[in-house]
Amino acid sequence: MASPTLKLLCFLLLPFLSLNLPSSYSQNFIYNGFHNSNITLTGSSQIKRSGILQLTNVTSRLIGRAFYPEPLRFKNLNSVSSFSTSFVFTIVPIIPTKGGHGLAFIISPSTSFIGALPSQYFGLFNAQTIGNLSNHVFAVEFDTVQDYEFGDINDNHVGVDIDNLNSTVAEPASVKLARNGTITATNVSLQGGKPIQAWIEYNSPSNLLNVTLSLTSDKPEIPLISTTIDLSSAFEDYMYVGFSSSTGLLSSSHYLSGWAFRMNGQPQPLFLSHLPLLRDTKNIARSKGFIIGVSISATLLVCAAIAASLYIAWKLKRADVIEEWELTYGPHRFSYKELRMATRSFSSKELLGFGGFGKVYRGVLPGSKTMVAVKRVSHESKQGLREFVAEIASIGRMRHRNVVQLQGWCRRRGDLLLVYDYMRNGSLDKYIFEPEEGSVLKWAQRYKIIRGVAAGLLYLHEEWEQVVVHRDVKASNVLLDADMNGRLGDFGLARLYEHGANAHTTHVVGTLGYLAPELTRTGRSTTKTDVYAYGALLLEVACGRRPIEAKAPPDEMVLVEWVWECHAKGQIVMAGDWRLRGMYDRGEMEAVLRLGLACSSSAPEGRPSMRQVVQVLDGDAPLPELGLGEVNNDNASSRLYDEDYVHSYTLSTDQGSFESRAGGSTGGGVPLSPLALLSERAGL
Ligand SMILES: *[C@@H]1O[C@H](CO)[C@@H](O)[C@H](O)[C@H]1NC(C)=O
Ligand SMILES: *[C@@H]1O[C@H](CO)[C@@H](O)[C@H](O)[C@H]1NC(C)=O
Ligand SMILES: *[C@@H]1O[C@H](CO)[C@@H](O)[C@H](O)[C@H]1NC(C)=O
Ligand SMILES: *[C@@H]1O[C@H](CO)[C@@H](O)[C@H](O)[C@H]1NC(C)=O
Ligand SMILES: *[C@@H]1O[C@H](CO)[C@@H](O)[C@H](O)[C@H]1NC(C)=O
Ligand SMILES: *[C@@H]1O[C@H](CO)[C@@H](O)[C@H](O)[C@H]1NC(C)=O
Ligand SMILES: *[C@@H]1O[C@H](CO)[C@@H](O)[C@H](O)[C@H]1NC(C)=O
Repeated sequence: MASPTLKLLCFLLLPFLSLNLPSSYSQNFIYNGFHNSNITLTGSSQIKRSGILQLTNVTSRLIGRAFYPEPLRFKNLNSVSSFSTSFVFTIVPIIPTKGGHGLAFIISPSTSFIGALPSQYFGLFNAQTIGNLSNHVFAVEFDTVQDYEFGDINDNHVGVDIDNLNSTVAEPASVKLARNGTITATNVSLQGGKPIQAWIEYNSPSNLLNVTLSLTSDKPEIPLISTTIDLSSAFEDYMYVGFSSSTGLLSSSHYLSGWAFRMNGQPQPLFLSHLPLLRDTKNIARSKGFIIGVSISATLLVCAAIAASLYIAWKLKRADVIEEWELTYGPHRFSYKELRMATRSFSSKELLGFGGFGKVYRGVLPGSKTMVAVKRVSHESKQGLREFVAEIASIGRMRHRNVVQLQGWCRRRGDLLLVYDYMRNGSLDKYIFEPEEGSVLKWAQRYKIIRGVAAGLLYLHEEWEQVVVHRDVKASNVLLDADMNGRLGDFGLARLYEHGANAHTTHVVGTLGYLAPELTRTGRSTTKTDVYAYGALLLEVACGRRPIEAKAPPDEMVLVEWVWECHAKGQIVMAGDWRLRGMYDRGEMEAVLRLGLACSSSAPEGRPSMRQVVQVLDGDAPLPELGLGEVNNDNASSRLYDEDYVHSYTLSTDQGSFESRAGGSTGGGVPLSPLALLSERAGL
């Protein structure tokens, strides 16, 4: 009696029993780098010391493959599982844009491909086996050579292949983004030497396969390829997943930095900043200088900070909901909708300008009808965001008439929106460097502005509950309110960038001419580096010109040097803005120029504090004493030719170190001329 029931039970259970898998079977894995990882390598592939997996080097006719060590169950009773994978690869050609042949993500019944050839065959097929449906090989190719025999569309494409390299679907490599309702595609060079993240997703009931590319950790909403494809006959029950890459006469090094995979679900996200990446090859080629290593403990600290912020970034990325910590910080957190309405959807008509770190829009808040300036800072990796928000939140409680009031903020995905008081008269640089007819600032106005900025900085350095270093004092960060008071804006933003933006890009933090020389050595911003920058600002405002002016006569090109020269001749006021001749208070002009020189002292301890500066400007303290000889024997004059000073430098966040690029030390002792410095600067 029991036997039919048993049979029925067996029949019902059969599909489940056949799912009985090896105990170590895993449907979900992630490699954040391949250091010490269990991965099957064949051919030329090897794991480098950094943890990056090199499939091939630039030797010709190589095949390199890497597989997850066990086969995965892809098919069960003819129904294919959904799967999803993402990985980060970098292709560095031997000759720019002329490399070969590319790499492919593959799903195959075996890890050996008998008789397979390199070059255009990707190490998967040969002339006999190609196109044979018993190959059971599924591939997504990232192809950098146009092979006419396979009908390739160009030499930079992504294609979906089954048992063949004649792709069933192919698209030129690009990142697709939906902006303003229309889809824009930005071409991406697969062999550009930059890390590229790819996502391949297959949904089984709908048979929809999506392939998406991105140059960042964020996945664009629009896939590059979205196609329906039936994989049930292509797949066997158990298949290996991995990569294959080959070189031919044309060759490239092919690298993988990370890989995540999941059957029936989304894999864990990969963050570029978390992965071993190649050093920026362009940078290496260009850098004639040297690298100032950062001590191991500093590196560890940076790593810990990055790990912590990655966790936060991950949390933030998960959902755009308000996190608890966000609520604990005043000031006002605006809703994105409010700000969108205020700025009329960030209309270009409301664009006030491009600040150091993003666009600034004018807006009118819907409720109170107050005018605000909304700065949109896009900060892709969101590293350090929380820390930064904590900082701006505390800054939001600052009240000082010479500090631009932060009204609130809003975070939306990678964008941080900062809402400031609207400053009717814009920024100081326009008035100093490109004044319109009749808008040349009078001396009294200039004096009031620099006095105000000094008071604002003093407040940040000494009077606020914690020491705040501005980090980017310069004319364009001094904003003018309706009464032409100078107010400091944009503080803290430089810090957000110092903390690490994109791992594969570099940022100049600070602005040449305002950067204290010790900043190149230590990389640390202090109140004294702010004072240095303020000194440069003083000289600019008094002389009405930039710190380095290419068009000026050679001896006047470098502002600080020229002021020193005038000072040495006992005629320091000669350096004052010619547009103001005869229209300034001589004593004030002298005070400002002398202060400017004192603040520009190359030794941090030689610079006055902001309190002393304010006292001098208020006439409560005597003018700073300047050694006459400094122009010759101290570093002022020779400083431009001092290699520390000449370096233009970038913060390379992925190395956690400074990279200095300079002509000073490598030009065979030939000092870099100011013009060379300028052109080097322009090439940044
Ligand atoms: C790597 O994975 C394979 C397959 O699961 C297993 O047999 C082998 O023991 C693993 N090796 C190491 C070193 O973990
Ligand atoms: C490239 O890889 C091949 C195979 O692994 C190896 O024989 C060769 O020495 C490598 N060439 C270079 C320049 O590293
Ligand atoms: C395809 O491959 C199978 C197995 O290797 C072989 O038996 C068959 O002859 C091949 N078919 C063609 C058309 O080459
Ligand atoms: C690939 O396509 C090209 C033209 O599109 C055709 O000439 C060639 O025979 C095809 N090759 C294979 C192996 O299917
Ligand atoms: C967005 O679309 C609107 C209406 O279609 C248009 O007026 C506006 O200029 C577009 N903005 C951009 C940045 O393309
Ligand atoms: C992008 O690539 C496609 C295909 O190669 C090409 O037709 C197009 O002109 C490229 N667009 C740009 C802006 O380079
Ligand atoms: C593929 O992309 C389309 C949008 O083009 C989306 O609707 C679909 O959900 C995506 N499928 C998968 C499996 O991600």
